[in-house]
Amino acid sequence: MEKNNKNYTWAGRFDEPMSDLLKRYNASVNFDKRMWRQDIRGSLAHAKMLVKQNIISAEDGEKIQNGMQQIIKEIESGEFQWSLDLEDVHFNIESRLIALVGDAGKRLHTARSRNDQVATDIRLFLRDNVDLILQKLTDFRKVLVNLAEREAATAMPGLTHLQVAQPITFGHHMMAYFEMFSRDFARLQDCRKRLNFLPLGAAALAGTGYNIDREFVAKELGFDGVCKNSLDAVSDRDFAIEFSAAAAMIMMHISRLSEELVLWMNQRFGYIKLSDGFCTGSSIMPQKKNPDVPELARGKTGRVYGNLTALLTLMKSQPLAYNKDNQEDKEPLFDSIDTLIDTLCIFTEMLQTLKTNPKPMAEALRQGFATATDLADYLVRKGVAFRDAHAIVGAAVKSAEQKNCDLAELSLAELQEFCPQNITLSDDVYSKALTVEAALKARNHVGGTAVEQVLLAVKKAKENL
Ligand code: ARG
Repeated sequence: MEKNNKNYTWAGRFDEPMSDLLKRYNASVNFDKRMWRQDIRGSLAHAKMLVKQNIISAEDGEKIQNGMQQIIKEIESGEFQWSLDLEDVHFNIESRLIALVGDAGKRLHTARSRNDQVATDIRLFLRDNVDLILQKLTDFRKVLVNLAEREAATAMPGLTHLQVAQPITFGHHMMAYFEMFSRDFARLQDCRKRLNFLPLGAAALAGTGYNIDREFVAKELGFDGVCKNSLDAVSDRDFAIEFSAAAAMIMMHISRLSEELVLWMNQRFGYIKLSDGFCTGSSIMPQKKNPDVPELARGKTGRVYGNLTALLTLMKSQPLAYNKDNQEDKEPLFDSIDTLIDTLCIFTEMLQTLKTNPKPMAEALRQGFATATDLADYLVRKGVAFRDAHAIVGAAVKSAEQKNCDLAELSLAELQEFCPQNITLSDDVYSKALTVEAALKARNHVGGTAVEQVLLAVKKAKENL
């Protein structure tokens, strides 16, 4: 224990010392030092404004500038001494500044509180990372689109209830994910719009008596404007929660894709291969090649959901304005950012190595009567009401199942037996309804799985990317 805690910036009125345990419990520097660039950027903009408003002298402003440049060098080179005694990133940097430039450093905190300072840092940090994630999402969506283009004509069974439903193409399947990740992209852009306002000027909670220029600082830092209420500015973290929700949604989509990749790599499916670099072996079974990356991503989705829950819970009972609870906002937020960036980078690389095996996909299509709907549609075109057509094809499927063959392997005479007398089937039932190609070709409208439509969707996507 220290004799007293007079070395604390805030300890003017304190007599009792702080235990080492409490020091560690109270401190955030071990994790919030990640925001040092944002902290310095914010301080420099604040100092510039203080000079412009004649609140500090130009000379002090210059000293602060120079001191901060020195601190940047020290942090970048690793010689900066981060101290637990100095609690957080803000005090660590401010204290070093004072050591370097003296009184000018002591004047930096004029018209500012750590409350509006930290709120500004987090917004800047999150904004930087949202911009990075948007870029990563675009890279990933490009890979999906390229894959879709390459596999636009690769037929596979589309599933509902995990049972064979209708033929689709692998390209169509990839474009479904492109749509999901494009909405995620828009969600992040939207979140960025709302977070991009400046808290500085709110000071501790009520604003400040100095003649500050908040708009100037906002402009310096690339914000779209200032937070309009000082209490709100220092206390709410809804922007971090909103980001976490968007991140959870992205991971949810990643997890769905992961589940499919895992299934498709199973020997019973055998639809795809991922390069060895994204798989691992077993310590005991020499033959194994496991889809660890998709599995891990599926697993990590849980922690990103957890981070969202943590932040929502952190916020829910806090009275206005700032409370120390908010120091707990950083680790969940950082973790979601890190998990998301890593996952997107890895998936972007991994999907570029994905190879499809069209043969097992085609075989799977022959097993589940995937063209049954097309036979029903064919009968509808011959004048049968859809509900009757459904029943007729149902009977045909039952019979094919008993014979252990596909619908296309039933003879015309056999098929005709299921139909009412006024309906005559012709040979074109095979080419127009009972082939995978016909089934794909038929769905030729916006959003459909026809090869032509998939290529059109790819073209549009490429124009927008
Ligand atoms: N380390 C604190 C945080 O992360 C900075 C703000 C502290 N403000 C205060 N009044 N104790 O929220």
